[in-house]
Amino acid sequence: MPLFQTIQFNETTKILIWEITESFEELLGKVVLKEKTKKRLDGMKSQMHQRAFLSVRMLIQEMGFTDKDLHYDEFGKPYFDCHNHISITHSYHFAAIIISHETVGIDMELQREKIIRIGDKFTDYESEYLDPSSKEDYIKKLTVIWGAKEAIFKIRNEKGISFKDHIKVKNFSLNEGQTEASLHFDVLVKDFNVHYEEIKSDNFEGKFTLVYAFEK
Ligand SMILES: CC(C)(COP(=O)(O)OP(=O)(O)OC[C@H]1O[C@@H](n2cnc3c(N)ncnc32)[C@H](O)[C@@H]1OP(=O)(O)O)[C@@H](O)C(=O)NCCC(=O)NCCS
Repeated sequence: MPLFQTIQFNETTKILIWEITESFEELLGKVVLKEKTKKRLDGMKSQMHQRAFLSVRMLIQEMGFTDKDLHYDEFGKPYFDCHNHISITHSYHFAAIIISHETVGIDMELQREKIIRIGDKFTDYESEYLDPSSKEDYIKKLTVIWGAKEAIFKIRNEKGISFKDHIKVKNFSLNEGQTEASLHFDVLVKDFNVHYEEIKSDNFEGKFTLVYAFEK
């Protein structure tokens, strides 16, 4: 299946999600890659990763860009030469990008029970409002928090940022679809608007959480 979902968030922000059902060969035949990208693709150990990587190129093409327009900085953060910001995520059989004139980050995660075990590694401030007694909501909320912190990390991309100590996600209810977060790192304080929604496909048993953040 090609494009799974498009979210036109505002005038200059679009989120595109690809459901990866095509084979590696099929995807490879549909994208034009520069030499640097081909080398990176060849070096990937898993074919699922390769297919996700190619699906991102399909999404970029959907938006009228090509692989030639996409660059990476020394930390692996993607960027375009123009005024558009881009952030990328892949999770299992989904790949997603956000493109915006604003400073943005995106993350997509499968909702898994396992997140409960590592919850205290990336939450601290949030434990004031998290309620472990309702297991299903607890998993969903932890996944939103994790996704928000990943998305913010992708925006700021600074060495030494601790999800637990430096990023705070404000209380939210699951059906609200939005919250706020802040990054407190060294002398820097930055605020973010965070949006989240659940993504479900007929081809996969689990539910995913899509999170994207805008720097205020
Ligand atoms: C780099 C990182 C943000 C990637 O996130 P992930 O959930 O593993 O993977 P995703 O599929 O969501 O994102 C991968 C994409 O992020 C982008 N990315 C990689 N490094 C990045 C960086 N430093 N800044 C912004 N974006 C980055 C890339 O586009 C990459 O995909 P691509 O290389 O195929 O284009 C993540 O691995 C990371 O380092 N997180 C911080 C670790 C941390 O502090 N953890 C706390 C544990 S408590």
